[in-house]
Amino acid sequence: MAVTYELVKTCKQTGARAGIIHTPNGSFETPMFMPVGTLATVKAMSPEELKEIGAGIILSNTYHLFLRPGHDIVKEAGGLHKFMNWDQAILTDSGGFQVFSLSNLRKIKEEGVEFRSHLNGEKLFLSPEKATEIQNALGADIIMAFDECPPYPADYEYVKDSLERTTRWAKRCLDAHRNTDKQALFGIVQGGMYKDLRIESAKQLVDLDFPGYAIGGLSVGEEADIMYEVLEYTTPELPKDKARYLMGVGAPENLVEGVIRGIDMFDCVLPTRIARNGTVFTSKGKLVIRNAQYARDFQPIDSDCACYVCRNYTRAYIRHLIKCNEIFGMRLTTYHNLYYLINMMKQVRQAILEDRLGDFQKHFYAIRQ
Ligand code: GUN
Ligand code: ZN
Repeated sequence: MAVTYELVKTCKQTGARAGIIHTPNGSFETPMFMPVGTLATVKAMSPEELKEIGAGIILSNTYHLFLRPGHDIVKEAGGLHKFMNWDQAILTDSGGFQVFSLSNLRKIKEEGVEFRSHLNGEKLFLSPEKATEIQNALGADIIMAFDECPPYPADYEYVKDSLERTTRWAKRCLDAHRNTDKQALFGIVQGGMYKDLRIESAKQLVDLDFPGYAIGGLSVGEEADIMYEVLEYTTPELPKDKARYLMGVGAPENLVEGVIRGIDMFDCVLPTRIARNGTVFTSKGKLVIRNAQYARDFQPIDSDCACYVCRNYTRAYIRHLIKCNEIFGMRLTTYHNLYYLINMMKQVRQAILEDRLGDFQKHFYAIRQ
């Protein structure tokens, strides 16, 4: 088995899970936030820095690496781990979501999706077989089934047809997968915001017996309460001895609420993207470091944070760098934001081990402004 999930503890206060995921490129503790390295780099971070902050797994993207530099080149380099000098776990998303959100002129057929490259307009095609072949060439430890993430809102009939096609595509991904001993293929539950469709999608995928399951189609513009509700009725359908991954979610409060509803893994571009714009997480909430009020603020970003950035640099200095578009400013904000989320997940895990995640949650909200 390429990837196994070890359930270590279930929190008595909340039902949240602490676990360990074992992969051919090392093990990492869950719950975990996975930094996004779309183009085979987590923007502004070196692999050494990622290790320093405790990232045991990063995410990359089939769609982007297929367009540039091409999966043939990555394969020739010896696979994605070697190509980017990252010797810990990697997960690649299948390209399904990116095709729908980035490319134009996409046409969905039973066979797959015809689309135009967001770079040069070239006409391209992705199918379950092609997405699996590309991910086999890239060589990530966890690969994802090719799915459709329906828009929000979408009507019931559309979402029903879409999720049933996503199940047929998931089966085709399993049949096309050529590297089962080294790479684990996860299925992706869809079904929009409809309870019976989510449950139907989960049941169909569980019948196919994937080594892990993702929940897709969330954080697409719905209210947070709707997302929490979908998680509440979806995670109980998933097997307890397999990993559960909530795709595209990365706001601190969404991570806490997701873990409480049974999620083990998360990814999102949010922490790295807002960092480059000069927004940072703190235990008191988000802070826009570009603002004039920080021009003479010589405290660290977050005085409760023990990261390299908070131990050595002030808000005033980081604000100056960001205002001047200096590369080092973006490196510092990115480093802090990723450290903040990964460290927060460590604290969440400790709270699960000690049956006090409910207390942690109360405190988490109490100190936010
Ligand atoms: N990333 C965020 N949401 C999704 C989704 O629904 N499907 C895939 N493949 N990736 C995602
Ligand atoms: Zn910090």
